[in-house]
Amino acid sequence: MEIYAHRGFSGKYPENTMLAFQKAYDVGVDGIELDVQMTKDGEIVVIHDERIDRTTNGIGYVKDFLYKQLRLFDAGSWFHDCFARQRIPALREVLEWVQNVDKKIMINIELKNNVIDYPHLEEKLLKMIEQFQLEKQVILSSFNIRSMGKVRQLHPTIHIGTLFAGVNESAIQSTKLVNAQAIHGDLSFVLSSEGKEAATQGMKLRVYTVNDAKVVPLLRNAKVSALMTDFPNELMAERCET
Ligand code: G3P
Ligand code: CA
Repeated sequence: MEIYAHRGFSGKYPENTMLAFQKAYDVGVDGIELDVQMTKDGEIVVIHDERIDRTTNGIGYVKDFLYKQLRLFDAGSWFHDCFARQRIPALREVLEWVQNVDKKIMINIELKNNVIDYPHLEEKLLKMIEQFQLEKQVILSSFNIRSMGKVRQLHPTIHIGTLFAGVNESAIQSTKLVNAQAIHGDLSFVLSSEGKEAATQGMKLRVYTVNDAKVVPLLRNAKVSALMTDFPNELMAERCET
């Protein structure tokens, strides 16, 4: 089973920062999950919320700032004073880092466009992924199924994971509709009959967010191919055990 660091090594470092990504890489993860929003001037940036209030010392919507303004905020002190130098990364910065590290890792980019529909986010993302030649190392996911359909129209093969919260009876149908390769679901979904059916039909199953190693045997039994965790250091130890 593959281990993905959810928002980087977010259990120990401020989520969605370069530090959290580097630390996840250092413990040997197979992949990193991160979230993207878009600034006023169209820069794709790595941050979970539509607003910057929770994870920076600023206030307001990402969409209302220029990228150079966003970079001034401290994206680490909310987690601990010692991380005050962390900034909101631009996605291009992360992709450049992925391109340059020794070990190939996967990057799961979650488009956070289910609340704000960022104009041309899909086109911009695909163009950037192509620029960095990372088509084989990227998974795009979103709760916004229409957006995933748009990605598929724009790119015939890029790996897509449709995202669902809880058990959703239309998950398989929606996933087929957008020709996605995977379903990203929570524990209740992957252990449900829908989850089992998706795996039987050849869809990859990835589960979020698992921080308890005790559930790993259940996940293995449910044919889950990857788990996303805030504590990749702890879950890495479980992945090879039978
Ligand atoms: O991509 C899976 C998971 O990250 C979705 O939930 O809120 O942590 O982005 P959230
Ligand atoms: Ca996410």
